[in-house]
Amino acid sequence: MGREFLDIFEGWAEEYDNTVSGYDPEYKEVFHAYDDILVEVAKNSEGNILEFGVGTGNLTEKLLERGHDIIGIEPSPAMKAIANAKLPEALVMDGDFLEYPIPTIPIHTIVSTYAFHHLTDDEKDNAVKKFADILEVNGKVVFADTMFETLEAKEKKTSEAEEIGFTNLAADLRREYYPTMETIEGIFTKHNFTVSFKQMNEFVWLIIAKKE
Ligand SMILES: C[S@@+](CC[C@H](N)C(=O)[O-])C[C@H]1O[C@@H](n2cnc3c(N)ncnc32)[C@H](O)[C@@H]1O
Repeated sequence: MGREFLDIFEGWAEEYDNTVSGYDPEYKEVFHAYDDILVEVAKNSEGNILEFGVGTGNLTEKLLERGHDIIGIEPSPAMKAIANAKLPEALVMDGDFLEYPIPTIPIHTIVSTYAFHHLTDDEKDNAVKKFADILEVNGKVVFADTMFETLEAKEKKTSEAEEIGFTNLAADLRREYYPTMETIEGIFTKHNFTVSFKQMNEFVWLIIAKKE
């Protein structure tokens, strides 16, 4: 399921769009160039789209503007309510990365931003196995999320956050399942994807995984 962090989003939903605009100094760098990151995910998306962790619908909106058919999946009722109010035309369903209604239309791209790290590495593996089953031939996964080149790089960023008093950010980096590139590459490769990465800010990387 990977729903263990849902309480955080129930409490954060109303303030979430302020946070992504750089309002919270602790998360300013995490959300640096947020809009460009969502645009980059949208630009790399094709056809019918399955989106996980829709949140307040900011990526969904960009995908709808580009004319895609989208199925959105979001486990937090508070986040989903905001997405529905912003985008009444969008289809956003209850579910998570591991349990969701199987799409009844062909899916060409699976997208997600700032959400995949809520799964443990085993859960990520299970999710990607299911993506391989759902995607059409030549389909792809396009994600943007915080990850690190190495465990040492992750520890360095976490310690730096602690040293400058960013206690919420440091606790978040220690609590949730932010992966290394090697872990992500290993999981996607195991399920017959080829993977490429592009750094978007000090924390966030774009991941494009093409199904072989
Ligand atoms: C940081 S927000 C990102 C929202 C949006 N994608 C964005 O880029 O602004 C993370 C979202 O992932 C959702 N989430 C948490 N656990 C999840 C899970 N196991 N499966 C899918 N989504 C999850 C949260 O409810 C929240 O809406």
